[in-house]
Amino acid sequence: MKFFIDTANLQEIQEAQNLGVLDGVTTNPSLMAKEGISGKDNIIAHYKAICAIVDGDVSAEVISTDYEGMIAEGEILAALDEKIVVKVPMIKDGIRAIRYFSDKGIKTNCTLVFSAGQALLAAKAGATYVSPFVGRLDDISFDGTELIEQIRTIYDNYGFETEILAASIRHPVHILKCAEIGADVMTGPLSAILALLKHPLTDIGLEKFMKDMAGKWN
Ligand code: E4P
Repeated sequence: MKFFIDTANLQEIQEAQNLGVLDGVTTNPSLMAKEGISGKDNIIAHYKAICAIVDGDVSAEVISTDYEGMIAEGEILAALDEKIVVKVPMIKDGIRAIRYFSDKGIKTNCTLVFSAGQALLAAKAGATYVSPFVGRLDDISFDGTELIEQIRTIYDNYGFETEILAASIRHPVHILKCAEIGADVMTGPLSAILALLKHPLTDIGLEKFMKDMAGKWN
């Protein structure tokens, strides 16, 4: 399972990269705005800065919602770095844009996916990644991981190569459930990744080991 971090914050991306388990980054317009990024030049510079930190794929979302606008923006973004994945919303023009990018060999991430039907369409259009939003489904009393399971079955039935990128991950149990189901990738905040480290018996055990051998190295 690949681990992506869902942030546009350079310090957090660097921290996850330093941990040695990071496979990529996803951003979205809200995450970019949270970092105070605005204006084409600053947006471009920020994506370049992210690409300079990580080795894997970096999803950069278009902010147009019409076909021509998404194509124009996506081509500029894709030309910035080979790590860039053009993130496109699950709308009619978005599906057309994904087909266009896919035919040109440009990687895509179909975002704002909340149903298996949407995921099927994204795969048919040739999306590199599909992003079902687990946490936001949980927020409205649907089990988001059930959607991941449904998409896994459909993609496996037909051998679709689109990778299931479990998005809107909020906590470590989301990560584990998605791993059990067989999501290809998960994207979440640094806090969810670091929470995987935690176990009280680890802390208690380490404290005792350290106490028992304190000062005995030399
Ligand atoms: C997907 O790629 C989105 O950036 C993201 O995972 C949304 O997460 P949220 O629901 O926590 O905002």
